[in-house]
Amino acid sequence: MELAKKLCNAYGPSGREDKIRKMIESEIGNSCQRMEVDRLGNLIAYVPAKSKDSVKEEKNTRIMICAHMDEIGLIVTYIDKKGFLRFTNIGGLLPERIVNQRIIFENGTIGCIGVETKPETPKPPRIDNLFIDISAQDRKEAEDKVGIGDIASFHQQAVIINNRMTSKALDDRIGCYCLIETMKLLKENKNDLYFVFTVQEEVGLRGARTGAYGIAPDYAIAVDVTVTGDTPECRKMDVGLGKGPAIKVKDALFLASPIVKNKLVAYAKETDTAYQLEILERGTTDAAVVQIIKEGVLSGVLSIPTRYIHSTNEMCDLGDVEGIIKLLLSVCEKGLF
Ligand code: CO
Ligand code: ZN
Repeated sequence: MELAKKLCNAYGPSGREDKIRKMIESEIGNSCQRMEVDRLGNLIAYVPAKSKDSVKEEKNTRIMICAHMDEIGLIVTYIDKKGFLRFTNIGGLLPERIVNQRIIFENGTIGCIGVETKPETPKPPRIDNLFIDISAQDRKEAEDKVGIGDIASFHQQAVIINNRMTSKALDDRIGCYCLIETMKLLKENKNDLYFVFTVQEEVGLRGARTGAYGIAPDYAIAVDVTVTGDTPECRKMDVGLGKGPAIKVKDALFLASPIVKNKLVAYAKETDTAYQLEILERGTTDAAVVQIIKEGVLSGVLSIPTRYIHSTNEMCDLGDVEGIIKLLLSVCEKGLF
């Protein structure tokens, strides 16, 4: 799991995925026929069909399997006289989950997030009640390290306790990890496979859109995290940690293709993999835009049940991660139809 930890610990907010992309490139170089980076920054790895029953036709069936490289972040909007930074969000930043957390800029500058303590400060606070303290004495000192438009990510080391991993950016580096491991384990595949490590998911599924347009796949599977209903007094949801991969039925912007969803369920049964069905009421992932590219793409999602999403301590179960890899291997080896 060292690779998973390394991916999570690294810096890579939306639009700044370079470090993550380099790490992934060096892992998968030997597991694909070719890799390319499109203009937006998606990393696309191509694995052509190779098995006894793969007929070399004009155009083999194409399956796109994607996970996003980016994580949420904070972007500096203003620096005050005393050297405190004001910021706004890159992606779905939840103010109540980030107060007093540590952050890091691309150049290594570390800071922590403070909150105004005046009585009118709403509870929970809004983003404009928060500021970043980088231990500067004044504006000049702050500006030596950080400028307007600089982007920070959370700064937190991943840990594994009792087969559960806690980290920032499990959303969606753990998905990237599942794709990488699948590529490494894959021996034969019936269809042409495109493993796509997308950019800018957290700011509106942008990389997935251009990636899918270029590939024009017949089928697609996105791998991402989803929320759970297994913590005290939380919103009711039939997904929990350690009960297997969640096969998505629906989220706020996406309805899974019944063909793909049922095939994933069949593979789970065939391989004795525990699984859960996911209906996510708020939020979505890359599959929502991939599905409606060109003439349409039959799409599904495999989700890693994860607690405290978009915080510095997201938590998932490694048994579920194993299950996802197993199902991805079935998809790659046997196809989706
Ligand atoms: Co997210
Ligand atoms: Zn995600």
